[in-house]
Amino acid sequence: EKHLLGTKGMSAQEITSILDRAAYWEQYPVKLSNHLQGRFVANMFFENSTRTRFSFEVAEKRLGAEVLNFAAAASSVAKGESIYDTVKTLESMGIDAGVIRMKPNGLLEELAQNIRVPLINAGDGNNEHPTQALLDLYTMRKHFGHLQGLNVSIIGDILHSRVARSNLWALQAMGAKVSFCAPESMQAPELAAHAPYIAMEEAVKADVVMMLRVQLERHEGGLFESTEEYREAYGLTEERAGRMAPHAIIMHPAPVNRNVEIDDALVECEKSKIFTQMSHGVPIRMAVIERALS
Ligand code: CP
Repeated sequence: EKHLLGTKGMSAQEITSILDRAAYWEQYPVKLSNHLQGRFVANMFFENSTRTRFSFEVAEKRLGAEVLNFAAAASSVAKGESIYDTVKTLESMGIDAGVIRMKPNGLLEELAQNIRVPLINAGDGNNEHPTQALLDLYTMRKHFGHLQGLNVSIIGDILHSRVARSNLWALQAMGAKVSFCAPESMQAPELAAHAPYIAMEEAVKADVVMMLRVQLERHEGGLFESTEEYREAYGLTEERAGRMAPHAIIMHPAPVNRNVEIDDALVECEKSKIFTQMSHGVPIRMAVIERALS
């Protein structure tokens, strides 16, 4: 299996081998290698992205691959061409692997059954964002030295979060304990059987406090009248961060809504790994692309 569709069902061994290979690439002494010379990788983003898109491109270039960048707005998608026909078109031109981000849930599975080249999920709907979870696990393992037994709180808009889902499956495979914290309108009922929902005051006591971007525009008529109300109830404020354990860390996949789910002063504080996470996106994606093409 060379596709990477999600972390659900991945074994601890598979995850560990990706994290170990990323560690190799993080320490690699020069920026460019020729590991994937002559291989073509297409980045197909049908949804916006900054971190994922650019870190895949940096990763591919560092491996010496030829990179094709596809932007939906400048393509025949604007004329109504489907995602399936677009991917099939690039496959027919001889790409060796495809990185894909898109809105629909469930379509990736169907694509993977009909496309011969390996596909890497760069985020699909609210389903999975496996490379984000892998770089998050890499960041945690590097900080704590292990993942087994770590307490991880994932706080915020769980309902819409592919990051929460991919982290849940990957962390549980590695023996970490995941808890969620969210207002009722942002809870995902189908995940309740997999991890407990706990109160905010409990959630901030974890080893890892992972905040999620809130999309208040998608919660019309919900619990909160304003971003300030949300911040007071579920935001990581400076006051709450002051009650975190001394060894604990703050994470966020970004982009960040400063002063909504996390206070501005905390984004770059000592406990925060937010920009470290972004830097780990490159070696993780190098390991994942290499796995797809090996
Ligand atoms: N964390 C993340 O996926 O960011 P982008 O949407 O900018 O890629």
